[in-house]
Amino acid sequence: MQNRLQTPNDMPLLAERIRREGRSLEGGILKVDSFLNHQIDPLLMMELAREFVRRFEGTPIDKVLTIESSGIAPATMTGWLLRVPVVFAKKRRPSTMGEAYETEIFSFTKNCTYPVCISREFLQPGERILFIDDFLANGNAAFGILDLVRQAGATLQGIGILIEKSFQPGGTRLREAGIRIESLATI
Ligand code: G4P
Repeated sequence: MQNRLQTPNDMPLLAERIRREGRSLEGGILKVDSFLNHQIDPLLMMELAREFVRRFEGTPIDKVLTIESSGIAPATMTGWLLRVPVVFAKKRRPSTMGEAYETEIFSFTKNCTYPVCISREFLQPGERILFIDDFLANGNAAFGILDLVRQAGATLQGIGILIEKSFQPGGTRLREAGIRIESLATI
């Protein structure tokens, strides 16, 4: 994988793993199944979480949110360090779920729209939220989460991303919307 370090903010540990193990697929897809999207390296995830905690130090966070499935590992490590609960938005509404906040997200990568929901029980008005996800591509997942957070009357304090794809417009769209994003590697 020809990964160029694009910002001084890139975390060398993650950039090096991407360089070593990442495979560049057709359509601008980066395959990182050996440590993130299939097999998970918990030691790496913990180091990434430590970096999120360092970067968001001084920002009050009541809860970490992510979307199933690949964001769950880094989000859980971050929640563990911050001592706050971690909630993952579900892509299918379970029959057991009571009242929920719901939205729809369009995935360019998969060319389909999918619903996501969070039980009202686990996203409360006034909560200060950190959203963590594995990739930032077009930003639709993040805007979907922002919609759920606003429906609940909570506040999005920032977004922590493992790998931001600078050749797709998500980062620009979100920053233009005034949202703070901390990306640990940029490709
Ligand atoms: P967006 O949210 O930024 O708009 O991204 P998009 O819809 O294009 O991405 C949809 C899914 O594809 C997301 O995962 C996202 O993490 C993943 N994705 C985007 N670009 C890449 C890439 O270059 N490599 C890999 N491995 N994944 C990418 P998802 O459908 O929610 O799946 P998962 O979290 O269950 O793995």
